[in-house]
Amino acid sequence: MTEYPEARAVLRAAGVALVLDITGGRLPSVLHWGADPGALGTADLSALAEAGVSPTRPSSPDVPSYLAILPEPWTGWLGTPGLVGSRSGRAWSPKFTVTGIEADGVELHGPEVDAVEAARLAVRASDEQASLGLELVIELDPSGVLRTRATVTNTGDDDFQLDALNLALPVPQHVGETLDFAGRWGKEKVPQRQPITVGTHRREGRQGRTGWGAAGVLHAGAPGFGFASGEVWGIHTAWSGNHVHYLERVNEGETVLGGGELLLPGEVRLAPGQAYTSPWLYGAYGDGLDEVARRFHRLMRARPQHPSSPRPVTLNTWEAVYFDHDLPALLELAELAAELGVERFVLDDGWFGSRRDDTSGLGDWTVSVDAWPNGLTPLIDRVTELGMRFGLWVEPEMVNPDSELARAHPEWIMATGGRLPIEARHQQVLNLAIPEAYDHIRDALVTLLDENDISYLKWDHNRDLVDAGTQPGGRPAVHEQTLAFYRLVAELKQRFPGLEIESCSSGGARADLAALEHTDRIWVSDNIDPLDRQQMLRWTTQLLPPELLGSHVAAGVNHTTGRQSSLSFRAATAVFGHFGIEWDLRQATAEERAQLREWIAFYTEHRALLHGGDVVRLDHTDPTLLVNGVVAPDKSQAIYAYVSLAMSGLVTPGRVRLPGLDPQRRYRVRPVFAESLPRIAQPPAWWNGGEGVVLSGGLIASAGLHAPYLPPETAVVYLVTEERS
Ligand code: DGJ
Repeated sequence: MTEYPEARAVLRAAGVALVLDITGGRLPSVLHWGADPGALGTADLSALAEAGVSPTRPSSPDVPSYLAILPEPWTGWLGTPGLVGSRSGRAWSPKFTVTGIEADGVELHGPEVDAVEAARLAVRASDEQASLGLELVIELDPSGVLRTRATVTNTGDDDFQLDALNLALPVPQHVGETLDFAGRWGKEKVPQRQPITVGTHRREGRQGRTGWGAAGVLHAGAPGFGFASGEVWGIHTAWSGNHVHYLERVNEGETVLGGGELLLPGEVRLAPGQAYTSPWLYGAYGDGLDEVARRFHRLMRARPQHPSSPRPVTLNTWEAVYFDHDLPALLELAELAAELGVERFVLDDGWFGSRRDDTSGLGDWTVSVDAWPNGLTPLIDRVTELGMRFGLWVEPEMVNPDSELARAHPEWIMATGGRLPIEARHQQVLNLAIPEAYDHIRDALVTLLDENDISYLKWDHNRDLVDAGTQPGGRPAVHEQTLAFYRLVAELKQRFPGLEIESCSSGGARADLAALEHTDRIWVSDNIDPLDRQQMLRWTTQLLPPELLGSHVAAGVNHTTGRQSSLSFRAATAVFGHFGIEWDLRQATAEERAQLREWIAFYTEHRALLHGGDVVRLDHTDPTLLVNGVVAPDKSQAIYAYVSLAMSGLVTPGRVRLPGLDPQRRYRVRPVFAESLPRIAQPPAWWNGGEGVVLSGGLIASAGLHAPYLPPETAVVYLVTEERS
């Protein structure tokens, strides 16, 4: 007889409710995840549970189906199982019974779990036959974002091989479309949208890093959901190694969003007493994609470690000088940067060991005497004298076979099958799961940070983990490597308070909520072309707030696409993230530098709004037009960009609506930097020579303001401020 004959719990925050049934000792199952229905008493909950019991179906199990957050096949569930594993073919279909429930840290006993309201539930369960213990944690953050994770413990006396531990959140049957992301190097966050059909839309990431083409946020929504409206649910697997997101509709009717770590064969073998904890699976519900994004942003912004200082204007040297490290040239670049108002100077790849190009030196984290005969000090000193902070590029998890480190410790390279993995960018992966390798790299980084005034690391990771095992046996070690990355970054941050770390991985291939637990921003993409960046920023903000997105102005002719774009388009794009420059300013004209100085002044003046506001995006029927913006949480001001991506088929785009303001208040809307638009962009009457117009927030969002004709690849920025009379 279970201790929990009737057990139900409600987690509620910011207009969202998650109602769970834990009745009869079964694992928690979702009765409702969506809009907060208001107060729910015992009778309501038991009626809700009853309403959710499916009738038995013809030629089906004689008991109603039951779907837990950790789906169990013993219940008759025919979709993806939550736990996959065995003791060499035994104990492969566990049936867990709940043994303990904790709500907000307080242990509850049977009758107390009656309409319990909490922000955090921990449910313990066990299967005595299979000798497994389980803990499921379910939390609802004040932002309305939920997260859940599971820990499985081997309580038996032989090994248990765990092959998968997935958690799944059911969504209502009326969801009809899915939206997630794909991508590749230089083109992250490509949205893909499709109808939901029976079967599994399974997005596996096997790159040993988050991946450029990770699902990111996998959504399911009511047909036609957009930015502003339509019920939509999104999940995110917070893991920087191999992982999975899936959307599954089974023939029996249920639809779930699920995820977990993707384990390689034999990767997790639990010895007696050992435990494995899954990544957090996050879930956000909203009326429209903007609400989902806003919940994620609020979750991130409330974290104690969220960057709270103004995000400094950053100059990164990569596209300015690449591997060509020359002190006089870099000093000149630093002087020019400081004159414009740059606040952080980051020296990219090429400063260490034999690293004069990408074929050698990775792993040797000592300053190159060839490139830097007097060390980095002359550059760092000048940078700091100029009032800027100094940052440095590293790639600690990697090694070039042509390096002192690889020659000294070939056994530290990740490999399996008695052979080395195929090379990628002439490099291999250093196995940080080996304690000596971890200590070696940690000590090298500590020395570097001890000896130099470095307050920022751009932490790169430039190859996939292929055949990533531990020598000599070759057992897969991607899981351990991922944990070692988190550990190493955490250890450095603890040792060097105030140290900031940028998560870069050949652009945006390590951008997930677990990586961001330990780092302070991501590098969105190696492609800085504003035309592509417009799309990437728009969709990267589905999970991450703008202040975490490295967003630079590059040279006029883009190094990745070869496309030419105006400075105003480059800057109007970059200003919606964490603004920086990645351009050899020595090549910029005086006029370009003057323009850049103005954009930097604009960014620094408005960064509290740019980085603290609510992101709004507009659904526009014309795919060549975009409207993005940020609105202050108190709705006193906003900044929008109206962007033309390509030659529109329409002669005039008509009135463009700017959403998100308070309908009752009056605002002045005015264009900024309008003078830098090409002459063909005829100003609409309401611009009034730059003075703009005053209208109510309601009219601005519903009637809109006539857009100027904009040629392709141009953007106009509007500053909106409340008129207080
Ligand atoms: C890949 C990064 O994404 C670039 O920004 C740059 O840091 C290079 N690596 C350096 O090798």
